Amino acid sequence: MNKKNITWHEGKVMKADRQHLNGHKSALLWFTGLSGSGKSTISVEVEKALYELGIHTYRLDGDNVRHRLNHDLTFSEEDRKENIRRIGEVSKLFVDAGILTLAAFISPLKADREFVRSLLPKGEFIEIYVQASVETCANRDPKGLYEKVKNGELKGFTGIDSPYEIPASPEMIIDTEKQNIEESARQIVDYLKMKRLV
Ligand code: ADX
Repeated sequence: MNKKNITWHEGKVMKADRQHLNGHKSALLWFTGLSGSGKSTISVEVEKALYELGIHTYRLDGDNVRHRLNHDLTFSEEDRKENIRRIGEVSKLFVDAGILTLAAFISPLKADREFVRSLLPKGEFIEIYVQASVETCANRDPKGLYEKVKNGELKGFTGIDSPYEIPASPEMIIDTEKQNIEESARQIVDYLKMKRLV
């Protein structure tokens, strides 16, 4: 990468100033899990609850981001890595802007998630493993993708013929087989309150 001839230009308003103005901290809630595990659904509920608490939020979602910014990327391992790298960098900008950011991406590989963690100061990256077995996700099949996999119409699908590496020590585990969406959202908001992020 050629970094010659470019200089970092410091501003006069810093992240801490923006957080102060907002009246709350900013951080990145990183939802990881299989397709159909509930990442998007839960992140939407958490965002609504935070909005009602007066928190400035923004939500980034795999399916949505792949429509626009990352529309050029496939589901090869290389492109998934690039997908997460870009989203990590975008999320870092949002956190810098003072926003409580929610990102819902399968992000199947530990190394890619650890890269995003490395972008942020300690305590500002909160990895949330949205847990459901592949059998449960295939039964839910909200987008009909597991059916396509079964019919041989979709290859390289996470959890079937493409790997998903379970987080070793996430900040939170949400067991979507045992609790409903509201309970899951409450668990996350309670965690943020306990950490004095909101
Ligand atoms: S990631 O692996 O690169 O992190 P991302 O979260 O952006 O994935 O996108 C996942 C979404 O893309 C899934 O929820 C699903 O709707 C869709 N999708 C399409 N093809 C695949 C595939 N081969 N594996 C996983 N998800 C896929």
